[in-house]
Amino acid sequence: MSRHLEISIDRQSRIPIAQQTRDAIRRMIEEDMLQPETRLPSSRRLGMDLGVSRSVVVEAYEQLIAEGYLVARRGSGTSVAPSVRPPRESVLAAPQRPVAARWDLRTGGCDASWFPRQEWVRCLTAVISAAGPSELGYATPAGPPAVRQAAAGYLSRVRGVRARADRVMMTAGFAQGLALLCAVLRERGHEVVAVEDPGHPGERQFMSRAGLRPVGVPVDADGLVVDELYRTGARAVVVTPACQFPTGVPLAAHRKAELVEWAHRVDGFVIEDDFESAFVAAADRAPALQSLAPDRVVYAGSASKVLAPALRLGWLVVPSPLMPGLEFVRSSRDFGCSGLEQLAFARFLETGGFDRHLRRVRDEVRKRREQVRDDALRLLPGVRPIGAASGLQTYLELPAGCDEAALLRAAQARSVLVHGAQFYRINRAVQPGAVVVSYATVHRPGLSRAMAALGIAYREVCTGPPVRHHRGGKSMRTGLGAHAVDPARELRVPVTASPPLGPRVVRPG
Ligand SMILES: Cc1ncc(COP(=O)(O)O)c(C=O)c1O
Repeated sequence: MSRHLEISIDRQSRIPIAQQTRDAIRRMIEEDMLQPETRLPSSRRLGMDLGVSRSVVVEAYEQLIAEGYLVARRGSGTSVAPSVRPPRESVLAAPQRPVAARWDLRTGGCDASWFPRQEWVRCLTAVISAAGPSELGYATPAGPPAVRQAAAGYLSRVRGVRARADRVMMTAGFAQGLALLCAVLRERGHEVVAVEDPGHPGERQFMSRAGLRPVGVPVDADGLVVDELYRTGARAVVVTPACQFPTGVPLAAHRKAELVEWAHRVDGFVIEDDFESAFVAAADRAPALQSLAPDRVVYAGSASKVLAPALRLGWLVVPSPLMPGLEFVRSSRDFGCSGLEQLAFARFLETGGFDRHLRRVRDEVRKRREQVRDDALRLLPGVRPIGAASGLQTYLELPAGCDEAALLRAAQARSVLVHGAQFYRINRAVQPGAVVVSYATVHRPGLSRAMAALGIAYREVCTGPPVRHHRGGKSMRTGLGAHAVDPARELRVPVTASPPLGPRVVRPG
C-alpha cells in the first residue's frame, strides 16, 4: 500500500512547487521519515492531495529518481530506493563533519575551556577514595540512590521540578534518555511523536530509528502552537519550553496551560527537553513545565552544555505510569552508566561547586550573546534577532529577499560556518530565512572577527532595499513557523539573542 505524504506547499514562495515537493520528499527520506522501499502515492493522487497538477509531481519524482532517492518500477509505481545512500550522521550524537573554516558558529558545540577541571578532579578523587563495595559494584540501572537523591534535590531547588529520587533516572545524556523514552512509547502503542518545527534534526532521526514517526508542529512567538498539535494524532510531544531550540522563544504561560490540557485530553505525555535552561537570563527564567503536571511531563536534563558532552551525563524525572516500563527497557539494554562519574557529579552539586561554575559560565555566555546581538544589528542591517536572552545561539531572521542558501555559501567563502533556518525545519516552504549564530565555542575576540566576516557576506548577498521585513499575513509569522502571528504579538518577542545545540569542532577565533 502507498503512504499518504504530509507535505506543505507555500504558494506565496518564489520556490517552484515541484522543487518544494522534491525537497520535502528528499528530506523525509534523509531523516528516515520514509523508510527504504516505502511505496509513494501515484503522481495523480499526490497531485490531488497537494492541489497541484500531476505534471508537477511527475517532475519532482523524476528528479528524485535521477538523484537515486526513488525508484520507479513498471506496474508497482514509485518507491523509496532500497538503500538510499549511507545514513547521515546523527547531529545529536555524532560530531559534525569537519569543514575547513576559521570560525565554526554552527550550533552543537560547547566551550572546552569552561570545563571545571580542578573541581571535577577533586570530586572524582574524593569519590574514588571513599568508594566501598557498593559504590564499586552494580547500582540499579537508574543510578546510585545517592545520585538520584542529589539530582532530585537540585532540580527541585533550581528548576522547581516536582522530583522524588525514585522517579529520577540517570542517563548517558539526553540522547539516551530520548532513545529509552521512544522505546517505551513504542511499547505503549505510540506510532507518532510530535516535535517542534524548527527543531533539532538529529532528534528526529533518533525517533525514526526507534520506529516512531516525527511530525512537525509550528512554533510562533509564543512557542509551540498547541492547537496544531491536535491535528497530528500524536499522543507524545518533545518540546524545549525554557528556550525553544533554535529560536530561543520561551513557551508562553498560556501555551503551557494548553499543552498540559492537551496531554490530559489525549492521555499523552510531554517530554520537556531542558538542556539549555541554565542559559536563560535570570529575568526570563520560569519553573520547569514539569512542575505544572508531573504526571504528564517527563523532565529531561543534560550535563552536555553546562559541563561537557564527553561526560555523557543526563537525567530524567519520570511520571509514575512510565517509570516501570522505562526501568524494564533500561535493564534490558544496559546496567546503567558509570556510577563513579555520577557520584562525582552528585558531590559537585552538593558542595556548591556546580552553582559556582554556572555563575562563571553564565556571565561569559551573557557577554557573548550581547556582543553577537550588537554586532548583528550593526553589521547585518535588516536582520532581526528572535527569542529571549537565552541559550547558546542567536536566531537572526533575514529580511525579505535575502537568500539564505546564498548567504551561507558566501559566509563559508569568508571562512564562517553557520546553519540557516532550513537546517532545522521540517516544513522547508516556510519563510523567511535565518542564520543561527552559535556563540558556544568561539571566544569574544574571534566572535567579533567572525561577525565582521558574516557582515561582509551579508552585504554581498542581501543587497535588496534595506530592512523590509516579512510584515503581515503569512510571511511575518514565518520566521517562527507556518502559524499566523499578528503584528502585536510578534512585537512582543524581545529583540535579543536566542539559543543552540549538539557537538562539534572547536575553533577559537
Ligand atoms: C535539542 C537538544 N537537546 C539535548 C541535547 C543534549 O544532548 P546530550 O545530552 O545527549 O548530549 C542537545 C545537544 O546538542 C540538543 O541539541
